[in-house]
Amino acid sequence: MTLVRRDLLKELAESSGLSGNVKGSVDIVGDIAILRTPIWIEPVPKESLEKIAVKLMDRLPYVKSVWLAASPVSGEERVRELVYLAGEKKTTTIYREHGVSFFIDVAKVYVSPRLSYEHLRIAKLVKPGEVVTNFFSGIGGFSLVIAKNSEVKLVNSIDINKYAVEMQRESIKMNKLDNKVKVYLGDARTISDFFLKESSNRVLLPLPGIDESFYKAALSTIKGDAGWLHVYEFVPESPEFSEGVEEKFQEIHNITLKYGWAASLYHVRKVRSVGPRKAQVVMDIRVERYH
Ligand SMILES: C[S@@+](CC[C@H](N)C(=O)[O-])C[C@H]1O[C@@H](n2cnc3c(N)ncnc32)[C@H](O)[C@@H]1O
Repeated sequence: MTLVRRDLLKELAESSGLSGNVKGSVDIVGDIAILRTPIWIEPVPKESLEKIAVKLMDRLPYVKSVWLAASPVSGEERVRELVYLAGEKKTTTIYREHGVSFFIDVAKVYVSPRLSYEHLRIAKLVKPGEVVTNFFSGIGGFSLVIAKNSEVKLVNSIDINKYAVEMQRESIKMNKLDNKVKVYLGDARTISDFFLKESSNRVLLPLPGIDESFYKAALSTIKGDAGWLHVYEFVPESPEFSEGVEEKFQEIHNITLKYGWAASLYHVRKVRSVGPRKAQVVMDIRVERYH
């Protein structure tokens, strides 16, 4: 189970006799809870957070271990610093999502319960016999949910984080999906160039802020004359959400044109807010070769 509990942290802080200065939310991944309160912006004493952690385990008895996300996600591998707060001192767990069991170490890889809806939404778009390539697969959220919930022929799953790849391989075995998911360790651009040119009907790009070189690699991974890119990007929400989306799409379209592909924006969805005026969106983009 992966959950985001927005009100829980505030509620627990108040019931622990702490004033309303503990902001944020709680992510629950399997039997591990991660408090996400931005202590680097608004510091809170560690003892207060330990008190909250104990209360949390009383409230949700299936939670066995509580950690604090003590930094924002950073670096190429998108991990955060975790600080132990209460319960068993463990960071590995198993959680289920859309019929798949994932083996995960929350200290070593990026995991966001916020992408769960997207994993299944994309799986439902995949047509029988398609080949999908996931450039930034992490522990395999998209890749395994697609393999389990669609008639995909093959998912090529790439990540540069060796721990994420190890965990993903473990999950593939556990779910008996070996014949549907092939995992590669390395930089998506290099892996694609060496092994996956013109191989796929869709390329997933779930890493905001990527530069032109990744789009170039994604386009050369598309098979035949047309395919799909599913792009996860940040856009400003003001003054108008639609303006931010339009600008980002234009940026992407200028890149695809440069490499001989026309792009059409079929669908946009806000995945989550990431700041007061910033949102993460997904864009389903159809690309077609022009001659
Ligand atoms: C936001 S996470 C992906 C989340 C994942 N798709 C999910 O559904 O949970 C981004 C991932 O991209 C990986 N990554 C970053 N740069 C990369 C690169 N150049 N090539 C391949 N993977 C990369 C990171 O290791 C990280 O696991």
